[in-house]
Amino acid sequence: MHFATIFYVFAMLFVCAFAAPLQVRQETVSNVVCTSKTALDFHTSNVALLQICGGIAGSIEKCEGSPTSTVGKSGNVQFTIKPVVKGDTINISKGRWEQGIKAAFAVCGQNIPFTATFTGGATKGDVNVTYGSA
Ligand SMILES: *[C@@H]1O[C@H](CO)[C@@H](O)[C@H](O)[C@H]1NC(C)=O
Ligand SMILES: *[C@@H]1O[C@H](CO)[C@@H](O)[C@H](O)[C@H]1NC(C)=O
Repeated sequence: MHFATIFYVFAMLFVCAFAAPLQVRQETVSNVVCTSKTALDFHTSNVALLQICGGIAGSIEKCEGSPTSTVGKSGNVQFTIKPVVKGDTINISKGRWEQGIKAAFAVCGQNIPFTATFTGGATKGDVNVTYGSA
């Protein structure tokens, strides 16, 4: 019992000390507005979020092709990314895209529609993201 507790504490210290520096830059979100009280379908949403930028599934690790706006749609679920700076091009990795969505869900609830600003998602500035039913 005692040993297990001590082991746990050391394990957590280890995880904190070594995991943090290895992590990719954390995506931060702001202006989160929850736009509905009804959660959308979990699976459909996961498919839709990978349709952004013409598809970032599998080995594609970032939003490619520098689009100025993009939609990720599956069934009745839709994500859109739009740069805050006019004419700016989207430049966001899959990791940061998924982190930003998680951060917005942490505010609104899992799969609750939102609008939010993702910090630094474009070449010059931030991007506005909307998630909702199409
Ligand atoms: C981005 O979102 C912010 C906050 O909601 C808003 O003030 C701004 O007008 C939006 N910009 C664009 C280009 O949609
Ligand atoms: C896109 O972002 C990556 C990583 O942050 C950066 O190295 C690259 O230069 C950016 N591309 C453009 C066109 O800004």
